[in-house]
Amino acid sequence: MVTYRVNSEYFETLPTGMGRSALELARDAEHGANVAVADWNEAAEGLIKPYPGRPLFRKCDVSNWENVLEVFEAAQTEFGIIHTVISNAGISSHENLLTAEVDPTTNRLCPPSHKSIEVNLIGELYVTKSALHYFAQWPATHCQLVVTSSAGAFFPAPPIYMYFAAMSGILGLKWLETRGDLPKNSALGVARALFLPVLNPTLNGKSLFVAGDRIFEFEDSWRQAERSWMGPELCDQVRRGRPLLLASMNPEC
Ligand SMILES: NC(=O)c1ccc[n+]([C@@H]2O[C@H](COP(=O)([O-])OP(=O)(O)OC[C@H]3O[C@@H](n4cnc5c(N)ncnc54)[C@H](O)[C@@H]3O)[C@@H](O)[C@H]2O)c1
Repeated sequence: MVTYRVNSEYFETLPTGMGRSALELARDAEHGANVAVADWNEAAEGLIKPYPGRPLFRKCDVSNWENVLEVFEAAQTEFGIIHTVISNAGISSHENLLTAEVDPTTNRLCPPSHKSIEVNLIGELYVTKSALHYFAQWPATHCQLVVTSSAGAFFPAPPIYMYFAAMSGILGLKWLETRGDLPKNSALGVARALFLPVLNPTLNGKSLFVAGDRIFEFEDSWRQAERSWMGPELCDQVRRGRPLLLASMNPEC
């Protein structure tokens, strides 16, 4: 699905046409699907040509809020309930963070282009906001929003740093999965957590998380997991070093 061309110095993301392939899957699905395609490139309208039913195409720049909203409005008018949104538009161009363009009129350094952030991150946020707004209008229907990020959000892959900054930002959207499902706290429930360390001083230095008025302590399990996320060798070194560091800061102890 994701292809990286590796040459001696850098990775280059290659268009894989995931959107095109997703359309083919939707067309081949047992009961088919109504589809709306939105793309900056008008040539993408050709993707819906072989589609049966009433496919919809809109020329749309995902970094333009009005464009994005218009796609959702048109899809709802045409199809009614929107069950699935796949937010897949992306570019890996406009990378000039590390190049030094100078404004010839002022002889001063130019700012980096925002284009990659606008399309890859702001565009995803616009689609996400619109999708969640529409999904909320039919709460009894199971709906799904899928957003694409990149392997580069997990490990370094120079030199497209703006792209990977945007893709890392998209990962923040994964927390939306808990939207609306968290148990609610009352003011009294949180207030109990405020007083718990007062009554129980053994909780000094702990982190308390309150969910549905239940109090959870995070520090002990976080510390137990250290060997997993640091690796045993580093974990042992840090644990040996910690008292040494504290002793050097408090020689009286
Ligand atoms: N191909 C890879 O190696 C790779 C790797 C990791 C992540 N991704 C990400 O997955 C997604 C899809 O990748 P792909 O390989 O199918 O790319 P692709 O280039 O084949 O398709 C991307 C589509 O987005 C459209 N687009 C670009 N800018 C737009 C804008 N402003 N508004 C609306 N449409 C716009 C393009 O016209 C194109 O049709 C992208 O977000 C990409 O960054 C791709």
